[in-house]
Amino acid sequence: MVTVRVPAKVNVQLGVGGVRPDGYHDLANVFFAVALGDQVTATPGTGVTLSCDGPDAAAVPLDDSNLAARAARLLAARHGLAEPGVHLHIDKAIPVAGGMAGGSADGAAALLACDALWGLDTPLPVLLELAAELGSDVPFALLGGVALGRGRGELLEPLPVAGTFHWVFAVADGGLSTPAVFRECDRLREESGLGSSIDQVPTPDADPALLAALADGDPVALAAALANDLQAAAVSLRPSLADTLHAGTEAGALAALVSGSGPTCAFLAKDADAAAHIAAALRASGTCRTAHPTHGPVPGARVVHTSA
Ligand code: C5P
Repeated sequence: MVTVRVPAKVNVQLGVGGVRPDGYHDLANVFFAVALGDQVTATPGTGVTLSCDGPDAAAVPLDDSNLAARAARLLAARHGLAEPGVHLHIDKAIPVAGGMAGGSADGAAALLACDALWGLDTPLPVLLELAAELGSDVPFALLGGVALGRGRGELLEPLPVAGTFHWVFAVADGGLSTPAVFRECDRLREESGLGSSIDQVPTPDADPALLAALADGDPVALAAALANDLQAAAVSLRPSLADTLHAGTEAGALAALVSGSGPTCAFLAKDADAAAHIAAALRASGTCRTAHPTHGPVPGARVVHTSA
């Protein structure tokens, strides 16, 4: 039996370029791994089977559309294993379809857990390559920490960061579809007359002020630099998110933003006490289902327990 712990992410900068001929958008994506995370436990089994526990478990698909199952099959195929045998149990704390890469996290965790269970010793560069095949956000869940993602988000460069930052995540009722949010971003750009294609939208780049704030461990400077090009699209599809963002700011957050494609909202706090206070205020505000204080950065997917 092998248990892997894997973090959720928030994008402290999500710069979205024009839509490419393959349908993806070029990104300047600064990923930040937070302590809110899932655990995936692999035990020997027949075929690839899944189970899931947690408050959102009913919303998690247990068939081959789940990235954890696809990860197990992809790893087995890469090593020429004819019939992969594993049962994967997901302890789910990351909001489902919430903009925190929870499905991608489980895919990364399954790669690592199956690799250990089957004794494959796959080198990290190969795991990262398989992760990129599974989805744009999966490689970062293996890496953790803070990293700049280029391309569609899968070309990663680790970034220097000092100290610990404190966050609150407000979980919405129901998820948002990532492709739908990207499409809405394109639609809003078209509507504003800017256009949405790769030759109409400037290629995004990491903001030097944001990188300096991370390297300095300065939450006030980071708050001033947080930016998400998908935020307007997420709020357009789910206008009530504006109330959630406002409630966290009222409660003293240094800054509020939509996490990735949403609908989870992220709030930066000045310290752990402020985060606890903001989370309580958000829970009482009636503008979200629940709110979790947490911190980061934390490492990527790692084995936390092994037994025969
Ligand atoms: O890579 P992944 O399967 O996680 O992406 C999900 C969807 O999000 C894509 O099908 C695409 O619609 C959108 N996407 C995008 N540009 C990116 C990443 C994702 O348009 N860089």
